[in-house]
Amino acid sequence: MSYNYLFKLIIIGDSGVGKSCILLQFTDNRFRKDHDLTIGVEFGAKLIDIKEKKIHLQIWDTAGQENFRSITRAYYRSAAGALLMFDLTRRESFDKLSDWLQETLENGNPHMVIVLVGNKLDLEEERQVEYSEAEAFAKANGLVYLETSALTGHNVQEAFLAVGEQIIDKVESLRVDPKIENYGVKLGVKDPKTKKKKCCK
Ligand code: GTP
Ligand code: MG
Repeated sequence: MSYNYLFKLIIIGDSGVGKSCILLQFTDNRFRKDHDLTIGVEFGAKLIDIKEKKIHLQIWDTAGQENFRSITRAYYRSAAGALLMFDLTRRESFDKLSDWLQETLENGNPHMVIVLVGNKLDLEEERQVEYSEAEAFAKANGLVYLETSALTGHNVQEAFLAVGEQIIDKVESLRVDPKIENYGVKLGVKDPKTKKKKCCK
């Protein structure tokens, strides 16, 4: 598979906020009704176009449950970006966001891009966290905020694009060096554009 860049991403946040569902919706356009608790980490991948570049996203869906924390922490260090998720119908998952940010500070690389995602927007009538409050939290921490529904697919693609766009900006402004493994960015083996132009007589 040819691509310009490979980005390693992680999805983090409390158990039950919809991390596995958002990944399934993003990679397979499907929704899973049951909570099939993630044990350790699960993996997904997708090739997408961002800013006219082919980006291979490698996505690690981590377990939200506390007892898997020692396994999941190991994945932070080599991640270029993260979706930090909470369930907007469950205030408790929003109140834990500071702890999650602390985890990324302690275990992630200093250039990690984080996008804050309030999920389950389809359950608007059960909302416990207002958009303005979540956005203010995001702003105070220098994050972009998006509300998604892994059920309807609303803003799912956009959330991954938002992470990818910011990583590209960092690479192009030389703040992240793809040659340094720990930053979670790799240069593609072949430039897809160059490959297309190749011809034979
Ligand atoms: P852990 O693996 O334990 O960390 O949980 P998780 O964050 O991966 O949660 P998961 O994706 O398994 O979803 C938990 C529950 O929420 C499931 O019953 C899903 O069907 C439900 N769910 C996830 N996203 C949405 C959504 O956008 N809307 C609605 N209505 N339900 C959702
Ligand atoms: Mg899960």
